[in-house]
Amino acid sequence: MTMNPFDERPLVLVMVGLPARGKSFTARRIARYTTWLGYRSKVFNVGSYRRARLGAGQKHTFFDPANAEGTFAREQMADEALVDVLAWVAGGGEVAVFDATNSTRERRARVRARCEAAGVQVVMVELVCDDRSVIEKNVRVSKLKGPDYVGRDPEEAMRDFMARLDHYESVYETVDEPDASWIRNVDLGRRIELNRIDGHLPSKLVVFLMNVHILPRAVYLTRHGQSTFNVAGRIGGDSSLAASGQRYADNLSSWLNQEIDPANPLEVWTSTLRRTVETGSHLGRPTRPWKLLDEIDAGACDGMTYEEIAQRMPEEYGARKSDKLRYRYPRGESYQDLIARLEPVILELERHREPVLIVGHQAVLRALYAYLTGEPAHKVPHLPIPLHTVIKLVPGGGGVPEERFELGPIDATDGGHG
Ligand code: F6P
Repeated sequence: MTMNPFDERPLVLVMVGLPARGKSFTARRIARYTTWLGYRSKVFNVGSYRRARLGAGQKHTFFDPANAEGTFAREQMADEALVDVLAWVAGGGEVAVFDATNSTRERRARVRARCEAAGVQVVMVELVCDDRSVIEKNVRVSKLKGPDYVGRDPEEAMRDFMARLDHYESVYETVDEPDASWIRNVDLGRRIELNRIDGHLPSKLVVFLMNVHILPRAVYLTRHGQSTFNVAGRIGGDSSLAASGQRYADNLSSWLNQEIDPANPLEVWTSTLRRTVETGSHLGRPTRPWKLLDEIDAGACDGMTYEEIAQRMPEEYGARKSDKLRYRYPRGESYQDLIARLEPVILELERHREPVLIVGHQAVLRALYAYLTGEPAHKVPHLPIPLHTVIKLVPGGGGVPEERFELGPIDATDGGHG
């Protein structure tokens, strides 16, 4: 299924940049964002082709441009990955991210020519950063723990990686091709330069890239405390917290104070509905109520139990059961509508550099969780987001480690399954 509403040509995003500039991180974020928007997206990382072929742990000399054998092998692997990109696109893929250094004009010209011959749009995404401290931090956080260096002496690994960097730097040519489409992001979004960007998705990606950053920080997701509607098994509405929900809000507050010193920055977002605002009010920190975070609108079914819907509106009940992602409540929303509504929240979430706690609702948090962990849209309506539990996610270079904290009361339910 595609949600490509403008019937555009498939898009290949060609990453460009020296090692340790956050290319792979950004490539994965682009794939995650476009997947979430409904496009069939995939990252092709040339480094993993090299590791699959030659094993991890190539010394820096392999990357020396004066090493003809190494250069030939690297070109071959980049070509192999590109063949896979084009095969994937020919099979219906809509967004491919070609993740390699692509550091010379000559390599980029070759990649572009092959994509264009296949009828595919190309946008190059260059990441530039000359701040030594950011680069070193990135090397320590992602490279030294990554497959090429894991288990090696950190100082020796650092020296080897820096030598690898020098090899790339000696031949690097910044993107300046006047006839090509490109986006250059300088110093973590401090400056964005664009050339020949048009089309629906490329324009959206510019905004996305203006917001995304590679600095790790936690995102916490929790539903509000159990509400009186949850106790009664009713969906939607704007009820207050039940006594159990108030206890959760207190538990959340104590847990949060342990997790993040109250003197340290933390963004707390709620919806505009009572149950999240009341939960947030127990935390002793400033909160931002946000209409976009309101629960899925159950329209004509708002305030009913699932059993009542099954009895009184069996066709609606059945339609939702058979396609929960696309089913739209009469005069209400579908999960797909919800995903579209949440896009500004995603951008804001990416932009913030401090930790963010979202006190939200079941359907909304399913959609946000899916974005943060890369779950595909069809899974969104079924993801488990239980009451009285905090989910901690740390988007970082090496995937998204997840922790769940059940804070109790533990027997809180929301009265059934839709
Ligand atoms: O039951 C709590 C609730 O937040 C409802 O307000 C909402 O309609 C529902 O969960 C969403 O879950 P599902 O899509 O599984 O019905």
